[in-house]
Parts: sequence; C-alpha cells; structure tokens
Amino acid sequence: MGRCYCPNQAEGAWNEGGKGLAASDVQTAGTLTEPRYITYVDANGKPGKALSVHQLPEGAKRAVLDSYYYPYHEAIDFYHRYKEDIALFAEMGFKVFRMSIAWTRIFPKGIEEEPNQEGLDFYRNVFLELKKYNIEPLVTIQHYDVPLYLEEKFGGWNNRKMIELFDKYTDVIFREYKGLVKYWLTFNEINTAVMMKNLIPNYPHDKIKKDFQLLHYQMVASARAVKRAHEIDSNYVVGCMIGGGPSNYPLTCDPKDVLATMEKNQENVYYCCDTMCQGEYPYFAKRIWNQYGVELDMSEQDIKELKEGTVNMVTYSYYLSGCATSHKCDDLVGGNLNLGPRNPYLKYSEWGWGIDPDGLRYSLNQYYERYHKPLMIVENGLGAIDILEKDGKIHDSYRINYLREHIKAIAKAIEDGVDVIGYTTWGCIDLVSSSTGEMKKRYGFIYVDKNDDGSGTLDRYRKDSFYWYKKVIASNGEDLD
Ligand code: BG6
Repeated sequence: MGRCYCPNQAEGAWNEGGKGLAASDVQTAGTLTEPRYITYVDANGKPGKALSVHQLPEGAKRAVLDSYYYPYHEAIDFYHRYKEDIALFAEMGFKVFRMSIAWTRIFPKGIEEEPNQEGLDFYRNVFLELKKYNIEPLVTIQHYDVPLYLEEKFGGWNNRKMIELFDKYTDVIFREYKGLVKYWLTFNEINTAVMMKNLIPNYPHDKIKKDFQLLHYQMVASARAVKRAHEIDSNYVVGCMIGGGPSNYPLTCDPKDVLATMEKNQENVYYCCDTMCQGEYPYFAKRIWNQYGVELDMSEQDIKELKEGTVNMVTYSYYLSGCATSHKCDDLVGGNLNLGPRNPYLKYSEWGWGIDPDGLRYSLNQYYERYHKPLMIVENGLGAIDILEKDGKIHDSYRINYLREHIKAIAKAIEDGVDVIGYTTWGCIDLVSSSTGEMKKRYGFIYVDKNDDGSGTLDRYRKDSFYWYKKVIASNGEDLD
C-alpha cells in the first residue's frame, strides 16, 4: 500500500536543476467550470491563450507569460521537500510509493545527446531516500509531461519521431536506476487520448483521427520500452497504466443500452489494454476505425514491436464509474471530466465523480477474467475540499469512508480470486489537480498549506485520514475502523 504523485503536479522547481520547459509549464489554472488554458505568443508577438484541444494560431509559440499564474511552477515543492515528505510516508508505513519521472529533467528539450546529470541525480536521491525506509518505488515514465521543445518542433506525439526519442529516454533511465527500481509503468492513463472526446464539451471533431494516430505511436513506444526494459534487466516488471476500468453500466436494461455500454468499454478501455496485454489490436478495432474514418500509419515493424512488448501487469486508476445509454437523457452529471448520464444509485463528489466501490470489484474481475495478469490499482481517492482547523487538524471522515469502502471492494475481488498485487491511493499528499489546476481539490492524507492563487506556507499537516491509513497499512487492511 502506498501513494502516488506526478512530477508536474507535485515537484515544482520548474526551471531548476537544468530542467527544460514541459508542455504543462504553460498551462494555467482553472476551476470546475473554467477550463485550463495554454498560453502563447502569436506570430506578431501578441500574447494569447487557447484550450489545449484547439489548434494555436498559425505561427504562435507556446510561452510562459507574466500575466498568468501557472500552478505547476511551484506545485507543492516536492523537489525541495522530498526528504520531509518521504519521512511522513515512512511514518505512515508505506511499502510502495508511486511516482513519475519528468522527461524534461532527464532530457530538457528531449533531443540532447547526453542526459542532464542534475536531473538523473535528483531521482537517484529520491530512490535512495525511499530505500532508507524500505519503500519500493513504482515509477511512471510519462505522466502527461512532454518536453515543450518536442511539442513545438515536432507536434509532440502526433509525430512518429517521438518513438525514437522516447526510446532514448527510457534506455537511459532503465540503465541508470537498475537495482533501485523494479516496477515501471510506461504511459500514465494512455487511453485518455481516445477518451477525451467524451470528457470535454465541444471536442473538436477533426482532432479525433489524430488522437488515434497519436495513441498508436504511444503504444508502439510503450511496447519498445517494455522490450528495452527486459533487455536491460530481466527482473524489471513493466505495466500499462489505464485510466479507469471497464466500469460503464447500461443506464437501462434496454438491450441497446447494453450494446452501447459494451462499445463504450471496448473503445475507452479494451482498445488500449488489449493491445498492450495481447500484443495486437483487438478484433473490434476495425469497427472503431471505420466509425471515425481512421487510417492508421502503422508499419510492419510497428506490428512486430507491439507483439514483442506486451506488459507484465495491468495497472489502472479507479475513481468513478459511468453509464451508457442509447436513449435521450436529460439527467446528465455535468461533472469535471464526467459528462454522461447520472446513475441514480450513486452519490457524487463535489466535482461530479460517481462514488462506486462495487465498480472497483467489478472492474478488477473484468480485467482479470480477460487477461489473467497481476493487477494493481495505482490511483484511487476522493478529491474534496478540506478545512484546516485552527488547531492544525483536518477532519476528513468523507475520505476515510471513501477509501474504506474501496479497500473492502478490493478484498472482495481477492476473495473472488483476482490476483491484486498492489494498491496505491491518489495521492498521499495534496497536490495540484491535473484536470482543473486547483489546489482545493485535495486527495492527500497530508494537507499542504497552499491555495488556488498560489498563496500559502507549503507547510504539511497530518489529516485524520493519515492516522487511519497508518493503522490500515499496519494491519494489512484488516483494521478499517
Ligand atoms: C488521473 C491522473 O487522471 O487522475 C492524475 O493520472 C490526476 O494525474 C488524477 O491527478 C485525479 O484527477 P484530478 O483532475 O482530480 O487531479
């Protein structure tokens, strides 16, 4: 049991230690109703902002502008405070710590001949600090974090060239951290590339074909990384990381809703997970390609590499479940990244995420039945507003209740016979929300004194859930009271 963090959401130090600019460094803060923007300077030097899913004006370059606040620049300053934070994780009794490496710390632009020594040293020091407490790192290689230079120069993952650059990056870290890291995840929530069209209102239709292509390049890059990892160290265990489980339910028992659900799970989840676990696109891929008019740039070499780089385990994030229907539905959730029909049997978080522990047991069974590979839930938690009381306490019983029910659901899945090998909550410590850029959407067991406008001391406080989870870990999940 442990927790996780993503570099841009936690590290800060955006321009220290030789780090290059990441695409996420030009992302502004948003709210539940106001989206995050990308800032840029246009061809005439005029500043502007655009939604990340939209094309920038011709000749515009993404840039950091003085008039905007960028929540990732400082984040929670894990970069300078990792020793203090890891000591707190150790106090809770963590056995595993899921974290991510920022590509821009290793290759600041992504194209250098030699890696950045300071960046390599930073993560080595983090791994050594974890080792001191016998905490096993579980490392994600790309967590929504691409060098900005690659985005500008090549169009990021829209370009096949990224496969080769990613290969170089992974080759360096697999060699560098041999003996310090055993568990690796290639791309965080790789399937979001095809899910985004369902999660963002008014998603530009012309982007959908590109999303499928971009995802193809990422899956080939991932397969190559799996192969590379095993060449470098046969003990490495490499997983795919999927956003969510096949946890969409039919809204009604109309067979058409059952089919709509099947199609949704196939497209959002199994399309990627089958390819990464079984080494080839699933039988229904052609139907999906035809539906969106996708013609993939897929070479014979790609097909071979997908085959050779199947993952050792399935890992996924689980926060909520959804519904699918073929009927007109007026009762929509309208939540943050959750726009579908409201499930009348569930309660929803303040950000509109449907709380559904049973869906976790269901998804674990669905995945296991299909792949028979070890499973880890690598993200699970409740984003909620916490109050720091005058006495420094934070009474987050809602978080404890959420986690308790989800841990019970995992125990039931284990009784079902599912091979669950790990569970890391999201996140142990408060960090910047990825979808909204807010601080107030808090997930941690540890409260960080930082506000949405960037103010705050960055001091850390133990929440009630901190003491509760410590007990849960000590009893290996037996004591959930
Ligand atoms: C996952 C991501 O989608 O969900 C994390 O891997 C993210 O990076 C987490 O933080 C929770 O989402 P959010 O938008 O509430 O931060």
